[in-house]
Amino acid sequence: MESSSSKMNHSLKCNEKEEYRFDPTNHNKFKEIMSTTPIRKDAWGFDLYQYEGFWCGSFQFEGMLSAQEHFKPQPNQVILSSTPKSGTTWLKALTFAIMTRFHVDESTNPLLTRFVHDCVPFIEMNIRSSPQKLNLDVPLVATHIPYTSLPKSITNSSCKIVYICRDPKDAFVSLWHFKHKMSGKEEVSAMEDVPLEDALEFFCQGLNACGLYWDHLLGYWRASLESPEMILFLKYEDLKNETVFWVKKIAQFIGYPFSLEEENKSVVQKIIDLCSFEHLSSLEVNTSGMVRSEHGIMQDGVNTHKFKNNAFFRKGKVGDWKNHLTPEMAKRLDQITEQKLAGSGLTLNVSPNG
Ligand code: A3P
Repeated sequence: MESSSSKMNHSLKCNEKEEYRFDPTNHNKFKEIMSTTPIRKDAWGFDLYQYEGFWCGSFQFEGMLSAQEHFKPQPNQVILSSTPKSGTTWLKALTFAIMTRFHVDESTNPLLTRFVHDCVPFIEMNIRSSPQKLNLDVPLVATHIPYTSLPKSITNSSCKIVYICRDPKDAFVSLWHFKHKMSGKEEVSAMEDVPLEDALEFFCQGLNACGLYWDHLLGYWRASLESPEMILFLKYEDLKNETVFWVKKIAQFIGYPFSLEEENKSVVQKIIDLCSFEHLSSLEVNTSGMVRSEHGIMQDGVNTHKFKNNAFFRKGKVGDWKNHLTPEMAKRLDQITEQKLAGSGLTLNVSPNG
């Protein structure tokens, strides 16, 4: 059987050859599609395109179209998927640390000096404004694209997908804070711009960059039931409560299991410590850096908004919604969760209201 280490060496070679370029001809073709696609604004005034049954953010639409046509998974490709604000950054860091551990340790890992989202790119956000190839270190990429709109090259392959979701109440509150930072505002003083009530209305209608939150979850959930060997379905709260168990589970699932020797040397715990909220959010690269241009917000082909890397690190807690949502707001979100998930077999770690 191929060892994890030799798998990675093989992938590194493949990645060196990989060309995943911005193409002006395609750009014009995609512009044409975008010009005939229904468009609306989200609560913060950012453009949303209605495509393949969901609202897609302008910053990811062209990249998604391009990925649908051109993305070619590497051998042993691992894809991390989520809706925004569900723990993507954490999952990226953990998986990157798991996959790179044969080459670097907790004192030399690129996570110490590179922004997490630069270590693990999004397939739909690293093309549009960036003519350079994706310089991957490991066959690991991420996406927010709903399952039904993933490139066929992914769904028809044997790629491993790790999906993470979260209590919608916490995801919504996290999104609300994040959007203000994206729109150039820093903290709570700017929050009146889009009242929480208004933002909630948009959220409940699916007028968000990745469409209706619950539909996104259900797409991956159903696919995980059909192909459990292809999709591992995680919940942020579980990862918080039983981090060791889930980190080992992720490693096993993607084909990079920890050996007994590694466990005895506390490798799992070292990875968890490296990727903890407290540690990552204290690193200079994550506190002072700016999100690279290709992650920025594109409006009419221009990157109009840049924001700090620290926008991805706020509290990292379960249940912070209690500090923001009224009982009525929480009830509304819980009721949608109950209705949408009824009969699906999926339950979320929804912390109790009141
Ligand atoms: P909060 O806003 O509730 O604090 P995403 O990475 O999908 O954008 O999600 C961001 C959320 O994950 C934010 O939640 C952020 O603080 C939290 N987060 C970021 N890094 C984390 C880590 N290492 N561990 C736990 N949570 C983390």
